[in-house]
This record gives sequence, structure tokens and C-alpha cells, in this order.
Amino acid sequence: MSNQDKINELIKKREEAKLGGGIKRIEKQHSQGKFTARERIDILLDEGSFEEFDMFVTHRCTNFGLEKVKFLGDGVITGHGTIDGRVVYVFSQDFTVMGGSLSETFANKICKIMDQAMTVGAPVIGINDSGGARIQEGVNSLAGYAEIFQRNILASGVIPQISAIFGPCAGGAVYSPALTDLVIMSDKTSYMFVTGPKVTKTVTGEDITTEDLGGASVHATKSGVTHFKADDEEEGLLIIRKLLEYLPQNNMEDPIVTECNDPIDRIEDALNEIIPENPNKPYNVKDVIHLIVDDDEFLEVHRYYAQNIVVGFAKFNGMPVGIVANQPSYLAGVLDIKSSIKAARFIRLCDCFNIPIVTLVDVPGFLPGSIQEYGGIITHGAKLMFAYCEATVPKITITLRKSYGGAHDVMSSKQLRGDINYAWPGAEIAVMGAKGAIEVLEGRNLRKIKDPEKAADYADKKEMEYKTKFANPYEAAKYGYIDDVIEPRNTRFRVIRALKTLSTKRQTNPPKKHSNIPL
Ligand code: HXC
Repeated sequence: MSNQDKINELIKKREEAKLGGGIKRIEKQHSQGKFTARERIDILLDEGSFEEFDMFVTHRCTNFGLEKVKFLGDGVITGHGTIDGRVVYVFSQDFTVMGGSLSETFANKICKIMDQAMTVGAPVIGINDSGGARIQEGVNSLAGYAEIFQRNILASGVIPQISAIFGPCAGGAVYSPALTDLVIMSDKTSYMFVTGPKVTKTVTGEDITTEDLGGASVHATKSGVTHFKADDEEEGLLIIRKLLEYLPQNNMEDPIVTECNDPIDRIEDALNEIIPENPNKPYNVKDVIHLIVDDDEFLEVHRYYAQNIVVGFAKFNGMPVGIVANQPSYLAGVLDIKSSIKAARFIRLCDCFNIPIVTLVDVPGFLPGSIQEYGGIITHGAKLMFAYCEATVPKITITLRKSYGGAHDVMSSKQLRGDINYAWPGAEIAVMGAKGAIEVLEGRNLRKIKDPEKAADYADKKEMEYKTKFANPYEAAKYGYIDDVIEPRNTRFRVIRALKTLSTKRQTNPPKKHSNIPL
């Protein structure tokens, strides 16, 4: 064989590998509104940056005639490339090859790039589109999954791990994405469930469609399994690129500070008027966020899930931060089970990747009632407390309006090592609201007044007394629990100055094997 023949053989093999399961199956993939595994990598990475590994790998299975069915690459494309010039590792499951099913060699390919990503300290992005365990490979396939799970966990908190779900992801296969930091699902073309509709029907009698059981909409709104629901795959891939603007390469680095053209001393007069005079009236906290961050840009995470708390990424003077904000326009911004879990997980994501946390507080308290108590709000609320207490990144808190009771303590209060705690002048920081407080404190006196009108007048008077004394920021400021009361329109500048001051913050927790967060 001449040298040229050898090169031609290489070119031919590469072309064969690039065809995956063949033209027909690629056409089927396209007809379902899906990109191929390679097209997805092309959209995700900087042009021409992808370097592929293990293109010539084939499986070793001989069960059920599989020795005659071999495809170069064995159903997953792996390698590294760059996003905005920064190295990332990527695997992309190829549904056109045996339904993207996972074999022993398929798993080895994924493990190889995960190991290298850990060695060099770079994010891993996994694109999932698979029929699950390759049935012919039996326990070797299960072992392959477990090898990946173990790596997901060791990599957690060391390098960012992001999962896109662009097709089926079922059975135990769901656990690898679930172990990663952020999940993106494409609307109508992806689904995730531990047990599919057929088995569900047999075991429980429940009749449910694939979409209703595990589509992007249900996981974005009901389960919270996915952090993002993208209209299509392209949007999903662009969300991943955007996310990486806020995340560092690994836990030893800080997120990248970019140039900012938005004036740092931009005064927003609208903020002075944004809180309604009536404390029971809602407003949209996202309006506040948009007015204070750089260039009006806020990448909301878990947008449709537990909307009574808002979390997401933004920048201040080019510095990436995580924002956590109670949302008065949804359930009055109350804390409940889902919102506590949502915020706790986001805070821990920020903390493990050195992203400062800016908390905007307007919280009437924890949601009362048997549904919450039986559901374990005690344990779940404790998660949020735990996450804030454990976080050592810069923590800036701004109380916009209400901050009552246990929820006050939980929402990044001074005593939870809040570094800089501001309040707006209309803030109400107290044990509880005036009405509830007077019912407790004056219950005996109120019961003695037989005339209902007189009783109401008395209650009003006492509530006013309580409000004057407690429904303000100065009582907390008196004790130094609030560092300063600020004019709302200056908030952007005050946050930027606080972040700059805290940029050299160093704080560590006591040495331990790991903490025992109330799961
Ligand atoms: C081997 C598989 C496969 C699998 C699909 N294929 N799933 N091969 N192992 N798990 C093959 C098909 O034989 C077919 O091959 C090609 O992939 C495309 O599959 P279709 O069925 O034609 O596609 P579609 O109609 O779109 O249906 C997709 C699907 C279905 C819903 C995913 O294929 C399916 O139900 N697959 C089985 C899913 C499953 O039960 N997996 C095991 C789950 S248990 P040809 O040659 O015709 O192109 C599991 C445990 C993990 O995963 C545990 C981890 C801890």
C-alpha cells in the first residue's frame, strides 16, 4: 500500500464515521426536527475548534448477531473544542447508531473525555439523545453507566457539567444529567423519565402520554428536573454558550470579568417609585433586576419552576454574579418547599464556582399549612438556610420591602455571614406582620371588647403602633444587622462598589469530610 493509499484509507474511514448510522437514519432524524450529533457540536463550539477522539472505536459485543453490526465511533461523538475561546469537553450521543444506545465502549469514550476534563480543569457538556442501555450488551452497559455516574459525582463542584436533552433519555440514563449542574431540554423533541408510559400503565394503571410524563414542559414547571426549556435545539445550544460566560473553567478559578460599557454609576429614578405604597400590592422583582444589572441582561435559571423565587445569572460592571430574589408577584414571594430547594441548589452552584451572590429580599414568610408541613418544609427550608450559611463567596443582600420571621434569617441575613446588607427605606424587618402580631399580643384585650367596631378600631391603633415601631429598616440598622439604608435609585452603584470591595474576600469553613445538608 502506497503512502497515498494509506492516506486515502484514513480519509475514507473518516467519511464513514461521519455518516454515523447512514443517510436514511440521518434523514429520519431531520424529519423529526432534530439535528444530528455532529451538527449539534458544530452549533455549540467555536467554528473549526472541535477535535474528535476515538472516531474509530467499535463495540466488542457478539450477542444477538451484533458482531455483524458495527459503526465507527459506536454511537457517541466525543472530543474537545472551544466556546468563546475557552476549552470545553463534549460528548454527543448519535441516535442514528443503534438509537444512541450505550455500550461498554460508548461509555469508555465518555469516561475518557470526563477524565481529561478533570485533569485540565475544563467544563464537560453532554448532549443526550439515546434509547438507553444497549440491550444486547446487558450488564456491561449497566456498568458503563455506573462508570459515568461515578465520574459525574467526583467532578461535581470541580468543573461545570452541563447536560442537553435533545431526544429520549429514559431509565437509569436520566441520572447522569440529573447529577450535572444544569440541564436544558428541547421543547416537544425530548423526554426524560425513569419509567415510560407503557410500564407506568401496567404497574399503576395510569394512562399518560410521553410528553405529559416527561416532556420539557413538565420538567420545567412541575418537577424542576430541567433548568431550561428551549424552543428548539439551536436555542438550547446557545443557552449553553451563554451559561459559560458566567461560569469559570473550574473551582480553582474565578469567573471571567468582561468589559462593561454600562455606566457603573447609572442612577435609576424609577427604582424610587417601583415599590407600591400599599404593602399588599405586588410588583415584579425582575423589573428591579433588569434595572440594576449590566445592559439589562439576566439569564434566568428555572424560569418556570417555583416562580415565587427568581434565580439566575447577571453581571455588574462585567463581574458575573448569581441573583436570588423573592418574587412578590407570584404567591406574594412566600417561601415554600419548591422555592427553598430551587434557591438552595442555585446558591450551592454559585458557591462551588466562586460566583458572588446578590440577594434581593421581599418575603412575607414561609407558606403555612398542612401541605407544606407534611411535605417537609422544615427539612427543605433548612436546605436554603444551609446553602446560605455554608457559602463563602461574597454575599450582598438588599432588603427591598418585607423581611419577616424565619424567612428574614434565611434570606442571607447578617448572621448568616452576609457580607454587606443594605435595605431600602421602605423595608419592613420584623418577627411577623402587624396583623398577626397584634392578634397574638392583643388577643386577650380584643376578646374583652364586645363591640366589633370598637375592637377593629383598637386593633387598627395597635397595628399602627407596631408598624411605626417595627415595620421599617431602622430597627435592624440600629443593631448593625443592616449595614446601610440606601436610596433605591443608587442600588446599581452600591452593589458594584460592594462587589469590588469584596473581590478579595477569603473565607473558609472548618475542615471536614463533607457537611450533612438536610436532604
Ligand atoms: C439497542 C436500540 C435501543 C437499545 C433503540 N435501539 N434503543 N438498540 N439498545 N436500548 C435501536 C433500534 O433497534 C433501532 O435500530 C434504532 O435504535 C432506532 O430505534 P427505533 O425504535 O426505530 O426508534 P424510535 O421509533 O424513534 O423509538 C425510540 C425509542 C425506542 C423510544 C427510544 O427505540 C425504544 O423504546 N428503545 C428501547 C428503550 C429501552 O427500553 N432502553 C433500555 C432502558 S433501560 P435500527 O437498526 O432499526 O435503526 C436502561 C437502563 C439504564 O436504559 C440503566 C442505567 C443505570
